[in-house]
Amino acid sequence: MGKFVTVFSVVLLLMLIAAVVYPGINDMVARGQEEARYAAAPRASVTPAAQNTPDRPSRVSAPVFSPAPKPTASPAPTAPPTPTQIPTPAPTPSPTPAPTPPPEPSPPPTPMPTATDREFAEADEAPQEGGAVIDKPSALPGMTPAAPDEDLTLQKHYIEENLDRYLSFMAANTAYSARLAVSLVNLNADYGFYEAISTVANPSDLLALCNKNHQLPEDYAPEGLRAVKGASRLMRGDAAAAYESMSAALKEETGLGLVVVSAYRDFKYQDNLFKKYSKRDGAAVADTYSARAGHSEHQTGLTADIGQKSPSSGMTSLKFQNTPQYEWLLENAHKYGYILRYPKGYEAVTGYMFEPWHWRFIGVGDATAMYEGGYTTFEEYIGEFTPGEVNE
Ligand code: DAL
Ligand code: ZN
Repeated sequence: MGKFVTVFSVVLLLMLIAAVVYPGINDMVARGQEEARYAAAPRASVTPAAQNTPDRPSRVSAPVFSPAPKPTASPAPTAPPTPTQIPTPAPTPSPTPAPTPPPEPSPPPTPMPTATDREFAEADEAPQEGGAVIDKPSALPGMTPAAPDEDLTLQKHYIEENLDRYLSFMAANTAYSARLAVSLVNLNADYGFYEAISTVANPSDLLALCNKNHQLPEDYAPEGLRAVKGASRLMRGDAAAAYESMSAALKEETGLGLVVVSAYRDFKYQDNLFKKYSKRDGAAVADTYSARAGHSEHQTGLTADIGQKSPSSGMTSLKFQNTPQYEWLLENAHKYGYILRYPKGYEAVTGYMFEPWHWRFIGVGDATAMYEGGYTTFEEYIGEFTPGEVNE
């Protein structure tokens, strides 16, 4: 009996001890499980920040002219993180609380540039291919040079007092026809580009000549500017309406579309543009594709820089000459009053590289007269008016 009592007492004691110790064991087990879960859990803090960054527009693939756009004064909206800024995943979990991830840089305010007019505002008329060298040509496409004994008095725009100038100009430019040479001298082209500048007296006239020797007044702004349909660029109402008819006709006949890459540009805008391009390429190269302030016919509101709609075209490019749209324009633009202003092979006449994109509205009557009369440049056509009639 005494032995039974002893055994019973021992069992009772063990039960009491178990009741006290068991919760502690439970806690230990729970803590162990929790630590194991913590060790296995992914850490937000160890995810590389770059992986969380939304895709950024790639400026490299953006169709802006090269070299890459110069940095502006404002800070880059999304400075790419340097390698040291990218936290690398720790091989073992850190027992310390996860650090707060640095705030994500906000994405750029504008999406990746697409071929719309507005986004290429800063690239107005910088040809994708860069500038060109303008040499004196040995021959002009489609032009018969003046004969050595050509009778200049037969030219309807012959001016007696200019005879000596005609002769020396023709001696220096043997590729020119008599008609072209006489026109150019009548417009003072024999003095050289930017060497004999007169102010355009009739800037709102459809036949206003604006070139390197004929400058628009600084304060001239055309009346009746409006946005061209389907584009944000402005043109004079008459030129815009003609462009829209032309574009619609092209669409109807071929199913192909056009876009206006650039149109009206005021004096100040052109001034900034030319300075910008001069800084980039040097003034001599910029002079081959960009007009100095007051010398751009974009200031008249009568000019459109045109590209094809597909593949999307947001820049002025020589590639436009290889499109069916360009071929169509060559044959049909005059019916809507437009002329190609800087044709291929006539760079020394116009002072600018071939610009297949640059079309000028002069009205249906004169554009058709140019087309039918075989006038390749506006200078050749307008020089047939005496200088007094065109400019004063
Ligand atoms: N690209 C033409 C010449 C202009 O700047 O007006
Ligand atoms: Zn242009």
